Amino acid sequence: MDPRIDSLRAMKQRGEKIAVLTAYDYPLARLLDESGIDVILVGDSLGMVVLGFPDTTLVTMEQMLHHTAAVARAVKHAVILTDLPFASYETPERALENARQLIDAGAHGVKLEGGAAKRAEIEAITHAGIPLMAHIGMLPQQVRLEGGYKVKGKTPDEVEALLADARAVEEAGAFAVVLELVRPAVAEQITRAISIPTIGIGSGQNCDGQVLVTHDLIGLFPWFTPKFVSREAHVADEIRGAVSAFINQAKSTPTRGS
Ligand code: KIV
Repeated sequence: MDPRIDSLRAMKQRGEKIAVLTAYDYPLARLLDESGIDVILVGDSLGMVVLGFPDTTLVTMEQMLHHTAAVARAVKHAVILTDLPFASYETPERALENARQLIDAGAHGVKLEGGAAKRAEIEAITHAGIPLMAHIGMLPQQVRLEGGYKVKGKTPDEVEALLADARAVEEAGAFAVVLELVRPAVAEQITRAISIPTIGIGSGQNCDGQVLVTHDLIGLFPWFTPKFVSREAHVADEIRGAVSAFINQAKSTPTRGS
């Protein structure tokens, strides 16, 4: 196992929390890395906050490869994980082939959405020695099927299914698992039930780590911010201010000689 990945597993054992943020380009990745982030996720949220798609289902392998390479050029310390995009891991063979391409582009590991149903695809990747973080709970790539971003773990059946998913991805060799929009009490139960780190998003504070879309955290995508995000900066306002200042200056400077 990659020592960088081992160190993430060791953090859970020591009770040290893991901080994960997304980046899709050189400057943001470099800023996150220089700030000491543990993991940079080249998430397929790229599709929504950078490419302007309504959800993540239109993101392609080509786009993920392009952005992974940009992030990899910037990062010296953090672990880089890249999402396998929608429909890129429908069979174990395709999952492995596409995971290998992302590693060749500079990722240290990959992430895919799904639990027990994706066991064969996860095993194909992890048995080939590629570190994999799974993603269970609300699965953004299934948003059209599900009809929205809904909290998981509300019924005993859902809780049982989530626990089964978490155990299945651990057994299949995942080194960590994202819990998205899982009821906090259930996220805590899963975190205690498995030995790999759980990384929560909208799932309460009792996971082994937290992940956010950086654009949400810093206010760089101001048109929509999920309820669970506590914004730490208002970068869009800074940009608007700088652009207004430039426009005023450009339009108020008289042309010499006129
Ligand atoms: O695509 C992404 O950014 C993600 C995180 C929100 C977990 O999957």
